Amino acid sequence: MSFGAGNPADSASSSPAVSASPSSTGRGIALVGCGSALPAASISNAALSERIETSDDWIRSRTGIGARRVAGPGETITTLATAAATAALEHAGWSPEQVDLILLATSSPDDLFGTAPRVQAAIGAHRAVAFDLTAACSGFLFSLITAAQYIRSGAFERVLVIGADQLSRWIDWDDRRTCVLFGDGAGAVAMQAVPQPQDGLLAFRMRSDGSRNACLTLAQTETHRPLIGSLSAQVGGFAPIHMNGQEVYKFAVREVPAVLADLLEATGIAADQLNWLLLHQANQRILDAVANRFAVPQERVLSNLSSYGNTSAATIPLMLDEALRDGRVRPGHLIASSGFGAGLSWGGALLRWSGPQS
Ligand code: ACO
Repeated sequence: MSFGAGNPADSASSSPAVSASPSSTGRGIALVGCGSALPAASISNAALSERIETSDDWIRSRTGIGARRVAGPGETITTLATAAATAALEHAGWSPEQVDLILLATSSPDDLFGTAPRVQAAIGAHRAVAFDLTAACSGFLFSLITAAQYIRSGAFERVLVIGADQLSRWIDWDDRRTCVLFGDGAGAVAMQAVPQPQDGLLAFRMRSDGSRNACLTLAQTETHRPLIGSLSAQVGGFAPIHMNGQEVYKFAVREVPAVLADLLEATGIAADQLNWLLLHQANQRILDAVANRFAVPQERVLSNLSSYGNTSAATIPLMLDEALRDGRVRPGHLIASSGFGAGLSWGGALLRWSGPQS
């Protein structure tokens, strides 16, 4: 299949991080399959409050979270991502050998050298190149947008984009300000090349602000071991997640509506034309604030926070998969999505769900 050469300079706005819309390449992307996986064990707010000073009422009223899944023995990023990717392959009707690229968005890899190759081997996608991409809770959206560039350029035809996190590894379970928020999980989307008129990525934005990095970190600790004479070497290891919750909250309710408004204006799409708001699942109050800003009714805002909490890079594909399987999201539906989190990083995309191609 040939759709011509790409030219990213033909973008729709002056922003340095904007999609070509419509694509100048003649080549678009279609979202054709989805899958997800969760650890077996669920921990309720009530169970957590046996361990730390908190309550179901505090957690629910501040966040909307009622429970979270936590990976147990034998459950890892590799096993969760593999299960999600396998389900997405089945949904798309692809064989593993057809996959050209696997992008794994994660901030909690099994191996800092990269976990995606383990997933590639586990699903038997022998032809695929596989690597990790780290952008915290924006990781899935950034990976989907990155995958779209490879497809639009003609480099690859079929891509699996996986978001998987196991932040339970990196939480201080005695810190009630953070441990109640996060859960583990994985989700995957299968994307393939289609002629540009069928393009399912209508527009996107990607943003970073490292000057606010300290608001939310999972940072390398500063420990040294003596080496030779006066020389020393750093010891590998990370401090638990540290978050300034109020600053991150203010950042999210300011930047997410701004990026979505920008996308709607750039594409000429009105908020009432959206079938779904599919935002990173961090806090129900953030979802409500964004929905109110665009007058999107609650029944068109996708949320599974009450069951799973914030699963970081996994939230968007996990939520999408649930809404596909129960029939809420259907082929042709228009979805406004936004990811946001540590970095700080954030972004948005207007997506159209295609479904499996015959
Ligand atoms: N149970 C009971 N009390 C608690 C708990 C808890 N689990 N956590 C905090 N408190 C207490 C605090 O100690 C504080 O008490 P004090 O006033 O006596 O000191 C009080 O509750 C208020 O604490 P705040 O931190 O001000 O609570 P806030 O209303 O801001 O809610 C929350 C905290 C839910 C974390 C909120 O700030 C939030 O959701 N922020 C955004 C998080 C987010 O969106 N993250 C996304 C990115 S995640 C990523 O990228 C990996």
